[in-house]
Amino acid sequence: MRFHLLTASVSLFMACASAMWLDTNNDTTIVEATNLIVDGVLDYYDGKNYGGVVGMFVWPYYWWEAGGVWGSLIDYTYFTQNDTLVPLIKEALLYQTGDDNNYVPLNQSTTEGNDDQGFWGIAVMGAAERNFSNPDDDSKAWLTLAQAVFNTMTARWDSAECNGGLRWQIFQWNSGYDYKNSVSNGCLFHIGARLARFTANDTYVDWAEKVWDWMYDIGLLDVVNSNDKDYWFVYDGLTIDNNCSNITKYQWTYNQGLMLSGCAYLYNYTEDQKWLDRTLNLLNASQVFFMKIGSVMYEAACQPSNNCNNDQRSFKAYFSRFLGMTAVMVPQTYDGIRQWLVDSANAAAKNSCTGGTDGHTCGLNWFNSTGWDGYWGLGEQISALEVIQNLRVRDFPPPLTANTGGSSKGNPAAGYSTLHTITSPLELETKDLAGAGIITAVVGVSLVAAGVWLVI
Ligand SMILES: *[C@@H]1O[C@H](CO)[C@@H](O)[C@H](O)[C@H]1NC(C)=O
Ligand SMILES: *[C@@H]1O[C@H](CO)[C@@H](O)[C@H](O)[C@H]1NC(C)=O
Ligand SMILES: *[C@@H]1O[C@H](CO)[C@@H](O)[C@H](O)[C@H]1NC(C)=O
Ligand SMILES: *[C@@H]1O[C@H](CO)[C@@H](O)[C@H](O)[C@H]1NC(C)=O
Ligand SMILES: *[C@@H]1O[C@H](CO)[C@@H](O)[C@H](O)[C@H]1NC(C)=O
Ligand SMILES: *[C@@H]1O[C@H](CO)[C@@H](O)[C@H](O)[C@H]1NC(C)=O
Ligand SMILES: *[C@@H]1O[C@H](CO)[C@@H](O)[C@H](O)[C@H]1NC(C)=O
Ligand SMILES: *[C@@H]1O[C@H](CO)[C@@H](O)[C@H](O)[C@H]1NC(C)=O
Ligand SMILES: *[C@@H]1O[C@H](CO)[C@@H](O)[C@H](O)[C@H]1NC(C)=O
Ligand SMILES: *[C@@H]1O[C@H](CO)[C@@H](O)[C@H](O)[C@H]1NC(C)=O
Repeated sequence: MRFHLLTASVSLFMACASAMWLDTNNDTTIVEATNLIVDGVLDYYDGKNYGGVVGMFVWPYYWWEAGGVWGSLIDYTYFTQNDTLVPLIKEALLYQTGDDNNYVPLNQSTTEGNDDQGFWGIAVMGAAERNFSNPDDDSKAWLTLAQAVFNTMTARWDSAECNGGLRWQIFQWNSGYDYKNSVSNGCLFHIGARLARFTANDTYVDWAEKVWDWMYDIGLLDVVNSNDKDYWFVYDGLTIDNNCSNITKYQWTYNQGLMLSGCAYLYNYTEDQKWLDRTLNLLNASQVFFMKIGSVMYEAACQPSNNCNNDQRSFKAYFSRFLGMTAVMVPQTYDGIRQWLVDSANAAAKNSCTGGTDGHTCGLNWFNSTGWDGYWGLGEQISALEVIQNLRVRDFPPPLTANTGGSSKGNPAAGYSTLHTITSPLELETKDLAGAGIITAVVGVSLVAAGVWLVI
């Protein structure tokens, strides 16, 4: 179905007036809208192509993003109560576990980053919480896989530089090994928070706390006080040279969302006031990712300058998912988040998912009433999918735990036996440097850090 890709740009010149119908209070329209969008998602699925790879999406979408997409589709089957895609999703999740069942498959192992592994870990964590159809093989149970990801990540905790933290890259031969970033550490924090709640094992809380403290002490989490309110921001990352003080202050929706929802899970599980405060402060700061206060979601660091790369074009998907989780885990945040999701979903459906030859290809900018912006791709599709399907986040039971009927089997020691089986780099010269979120591709746009964004 590459035709879809090729013709999408051509159809820019066609008058396609068929707006996607969405009434945010009518579940039928939500289901119909998400069905149409998912149809577009599957156009990019490589696993159904002759000679294609199960679990992967077509070039130029990297392995990590596939992990993101499967997470979106697990929720899609849940929010629509539609099992049609369950076998396809299950096959993908199981095919990509790697020989060690820890989401470091051989094909990816020379280029894989901690964040890449983390996004597959988040997908299987969601499968456990949604009671997604269990595999026959217990060593590939969703919870066990999530624990293997968590355990292998904690084993890479690096106290030698910057007093701790995960590096971006797993392997030292990769560009980015000298960078410690929020998405890698945020994935560890986030998965730890969800494992804590699912298993009621406080060791995961201790780890989440340790990651949070490190990110705060080193300056990746920053508190800005404005009008007597605290706003917590999450910066991209830092290089370990220059005494770990060279912080790249880009702000991405998915980093804010990883930390926000992680805090929400931790509050839900521990009921410790400090996680509530952190949830609310991160939530307040999240307003920088809405076009106007209480309006339409956008990727503030790259969208206004039209410089979002393929990875970044999918970030709003995860942010929407994380906002939905937060609304459920900390019910007092529901109303505010609901308003953001309603405004953003309406904008996506009316202004953006009206493109392509099919008339419902989704674009990148949702806020422009002149319609579809001519962008199309896997990231655009799943972003629209997530923002719309999370309107239903309260219509079904909250994420399960082992005590509330979650049936996925766990193994707290998963992954430990595989820690030293690191593949050696065979062809360093030809390695694919374009892993998840290559930071150098980000252009010099105005940063969202400053208080000016917050003067209301
Ligand atoms: C919800 O939307 C469906 C499909 O557009 C429509 O048939 C139905 O009448 C709507 N229900 C309500 C209560 O408006
Ligand atoms: C169930 O999901 C499939 C795959 O997205 C879709 O084609 C089908 O229309 C859905 N069924 C219903 C009843 O919504
Ligand atoms: C690894 O790559 C080969 C060659 O493209 C492919 O046949 C195989 O299915 C891939 N395995 C995984 C787990 O992606
Ligand atoms: C967050 O924002 C809301 C509404 O603007 C406000 O009521 C609340 O006090 C803020 N919370 C914090 C911790 O600043
Ligand atoms: C490096 O940073 C630490 C902690 O911020 C500080 O104590 C130390 O003096 C710094 N060293 C140099 C050489 O700047
Ligand atoms: C800070 O890090 C950026 C990359 O993140 C790099 O381009 C820049 O040269 C570094 N600055 C210093 C002073 O090392
Ligand atoms: C935890 O989440 C559940 C499900 O939404 C909710 O009923 C409960 O009130 C939450 N607990 C706290 C402490 O907010
Ligand atoms: C809206 O789209 C039109 C046409 O593509 C463009 O000229 C305009 O600058 C856009 N407005 C915003 C706010 O991006
Ligand atoms: C979860 O799935 C298992 C196995 O299919 C089932 O026995 C159990 O009832 C399900 N739990 C819930 C809460 O639906
Ligand atoms: C709790 O989790 C830790 C960390 O993975 C593990 O070592 C420990 O065995 C677990 N405890 C129980 C009772 O499962």
